[in-house]
Amino acid sequence: MRVLVTGGAGYIGSHTVLQLLVANHSVLIADDFSNAKPSAVTRLEELAGQSIPVCRVDLTDEAATLALFDDAIAGGQPIEAVIHFAGFKAVGESVAKPLAYYRNNLDTTFSVLRAMDVHGVRQFVFSSSATVYGENPVRERTEDMPTYATSPYGWTKVMVEQVLRDLAVADDSWRIALLRYFNPVGAHASGRIGEDPSGLPNNLMPFVAQVAVGRREKLAVFGDDYDTVDGTGVRDYIHVEDLAAGHVAALERIGLRDDALSVWNLGSGHPESVLEVVAAFARASGREIPYEVVPRRPGDVDAYWANPSKANRELGWSATRTIDEMCADTWRWQSQNPNGYPD
Ligand code: UFG
Repeated sequence: MRVLVTGGAGYIGSHTVLQLLVANHSVLIADDFSNAKPSAVTRLEELAGQSIPVCRVDLTDEAATLALFDDAIAGGQPIEAVIHFAGFKAVGESVAKPLAYYRNNLDTTFSVLRAMDVHGVRQFVFSSSATVYGENPVRERTEDMPTYATSPYGWTKVMVEQVLRDLAVADDSWRIALLRYFNPVGAHASGRIGEDPSGLPNNLMPFVAQVAVGRREKLAVFGDDYDTVDGTGVRDYIHVEDLAAGHVAALERIGLRDDALSVWNLGSGHPESVLEVVAAFARASGREIPYEVVPRRPGDVDAYWANPSKANRELGWSATRTIDEMCADTWRWQSQNPNGYPD
C-alpha cells in the first residue's frame, strides 16, 4: 500500500516508516518539523537504503493537505491509507497551552480526514494513548473501559476517538484503527534513530538516558509513597520497535475486517516501577543513575498497564522485547547521539 505517514519524522513515526518499508509498503512522510529534525529522515533513508518522499506541511492547513493527496494522484502514486502520528504530545505543556493543543491536534485530524473523504481513501490508523483511560481504579486497562482525560492533551485523544467513532457509524466503508499506546521507549537497534526530546525531557526513559550520558545531574523520582511494589509509579513500557510492528499489523488487518472501527491496546502487559526502570538502565549502561525522591507530579496516576490480549488475538501481534532490551537500545541511541539528531 501507499501510506501517508503524518508525523513520520518523529519518534514513533520514524520507526514505523522503516518497518512499513521493510514490509514492502511505500511511504510518503508529511511533517512540519516543529518537533522533529530533517536529519532523522536522512538517517531513515540510510537505514532503508532508499530515498523517502517527504513533504514539509502544516496539516492544519486544509488546502495544503488536500494538495498532498492531489499531488500523489498526479504523480501516479495515490495515497491508499493514512497513519496519523502528527500532533502535540506534552501533557504539562497542554495544561499551559490548551488552545494550541486543541487547535493543532483536532485541526490536523480534520484536514486529513476531509482530504481522505474527498478522495475516497478509507483506511486510517490513529495514534491514540492509554491516557484515554483516565483514572480508572482498575489498573489493568481493557479496551471496553470508559474513556476520560485529565489533561487537554488527553482530551484531544478522547475527542478524536469520538470523531472517528461517529465517522465509522455514519459510513461503514471506513476502516479505522484506534491504537492506544502505553509508554513507548527504546530505539532502533542500529542506534541511528531514537527519541530526541527538545529541552528538558518530560518522560522517564529519556530523562534517565540523559542522566546516564552525563547531560543531567540526577533523576527526580516523582513520589515513592504510591500503593505499588516499591512506592514509585508503575507503567507499561513498550519498545518502540514492538509499537511500530503493531502499526504495520493494524494497517494490514483493518482492510480484512468487517468492523468499520477497531480499538487495540498496544502495550506489553508487564508493569514496571520507576525504580525498576532505573535499575534496568544502570545494568544496560553500566552507569550509575543518581536519583532523588521528590514530591508526586500533579496529575500522575499511581499505576496502570495494558491488557494486550485483544491485540494479541486479533492482530497476531505481541510486544516481545524486555525492559532490559528497551534500556540497552535506548542507551545505544543516547550514547552514540548524546545531543540527539544533528541540526
Ligand atoms: N517519572 C519520574 N521522573 C521523571 C519522569 C517521570 O519519576 O522525570 C515517573 C512518573 O511519575 C511516572 C513514570 O515515571 O510514574 C512514567 O512517567 P512518564 O512521564 O514517562 O510517562 P506517563 O505515564 O506519565 O505519560 C505517558 C505518556 C503521555 C500519556 C500518559 C498517560 O508520555 O503521552 O502516559 O497515558 F498521556
